[in-house]
Amino acid sequence: MSSINYSEKIPNNVNLSEDRTLQRALEQWQPNFLSWWGDMGPEGSNNFDVYLRTAVSVDADGWAQFGHVKMPDYRWGVFLNPKEEGRQVNFGEHKGEAAWQDVPGEHRANLRRIIVTQGDTEPASVEQQRHLGLTCPSQYDLRNLFQVNVEEGRHLWAMVYLLHKYFGRDGREEADALLQRNSGDADNPRILQAFNEPTPDWLSFYMFTYFTDRDGKFQLCALAESGFDPLARTTKFMLTEEAHHMFVGESGVSRVIARTCQVMNELKTDDVTKIRAAGVIDLPTIQRYLNFHFSVTIDLFGADESSNAAIFYNSGLKGRYEETKRGDDHRLQGQTYKVLAVQGGQLVEREVPMLNALNEVLRDDYIKDSISGVNRWNKVIEKAGLPFRLQAPHKAFNRKIGTLAGANVTPDGRVVSAAEWASHEKAWLPTVEDRAFVASLMGRVVEPGKFANWIAPPVMGINRQPVDFDYVRFN
Ligand SMILES: [Fe+2]
Ligand SMILES: [Fe+2]
Repeated sequence: MSSINYSEKIPNNVNLSEDRTLQRALEQWQPNFLSWWGDMGPEGSNNFDVYLRTAVSVDADGWAQFGHVKMPDYRWGVFLNPKEEGRQVNFGEHKGEAAWQDVPGEHRANLRRIIVTQGDTEPASVEQQRHLGLTCPSQYDLRNLFQVNVEEGRHLWAMVYLLHKYFGRDGREEADALLQRNSGDADNPRILQAFNEPTPDWLSFYMFTYFTDRDGKFQLCALAESGFDPLARTTKFMLTEEAHHMFVGESGVSRVIARTCQVMNELKTDDVTKIRAAGVIDLPTIQRYLNFHFSVTIDLFGADESSNAAIFYNSGLKGRYEETKRGDDHRLQGQTYKVLAVQGGQLVEREVPMLNALNEVLRDDYIKDSISGVNRWNKVIEKAGLPFRLQAPHKAFNRKIGTLAGANVTPDGRVVSAAEWASHEKAWLPTVEDRAFVASLMGRVVEPGKFANWIAPPVMGINRQPVDFDYVRFN
């Protein structure tokens, strides 16, 4: 069960060869996926041999194999965590029933919607990142970008497998549509707005993998609790890959900060003009990028009050983060939760039924988790002996979804007039000039062991390889 059959066209641990219809359907989808990868995947990378990890089992010890692979030959496969005997639906009105091995008819439409929404984000991020390879700060970083990209491709496979296996014809149509929508496409965009924003530079990429891939982690954690067992098992395995994406983000931002602090100390200045003239990214600009990515990403959790969230939970389809570790009744009827609203020019807390506030519950768990990394970034600045501190903005800042959409709230949580907001926006969110400056630093560095001027080298290489290892062979 746990080892992967690589002689098959589609590596898998789900006994695909025993289900000929499904196997044929996926083998028909595969060339479409590859042609999508060719058109929308990492630009100009088809001939590179990249030091990638490939999933070869789902065992905790050693599920990955490392080696140089041509990316279009990467073995995108279907891997589910092993089945837990006797697993139950652990929350909602079906709590205590045996977990579903098939789609319950009454929940079919909602389940399909959940899977399609998750599936849509996976190829979207590959599309958002497709030009970044042209301006990589090092071979090491280029390899990490490609690793993230192939694994997002595999996550798409994970969702497409569920659609094909459990949803018949409309599942197959949804799987096709996942390759037809495109990030930022005016006519046929990706479902969630953050996945239509461009990722134009590497600071954006690190912020995206830190903040937005972490949204992925929380969504996957909530789906890993699902009463629909195949979804729980597939998302559990996706989470092992997701951890690396967030590492790329956290360490990436950390290295940008380290390099900036080094230059600030060398020049003994915090003058933005001088820091920029030295070719590194000033800390206030990093703060504005942080504000942007944080606020755009927390919108992904959806409206603070949502009847869909209540339905998904009640039906046992989508749980809370660490659902089974919580000590409550896992039904939540009659319980309340506090959400924010603007009233009389102030932010106020309102108690609402917890079931309707489950998006907010997940958002708050996410915020806690993401702030811990911001604190680790601050340690880098502190260690350099500099007084500047980064801060996650208030959760009401720059929101476009839910009750707070359009409210004028500063990063420190004050409600202000539209005019005041407009006059300060440049201090809070990346400006056209900021983005142009960051873009001006982006140049391609590919000599092994060399790094762009604006970023510090990593502490160690990938899979215990040296930092100057040839992670990408260009041929
Ligand atoms: Fe993913
Ligand atoms: Fe990811």
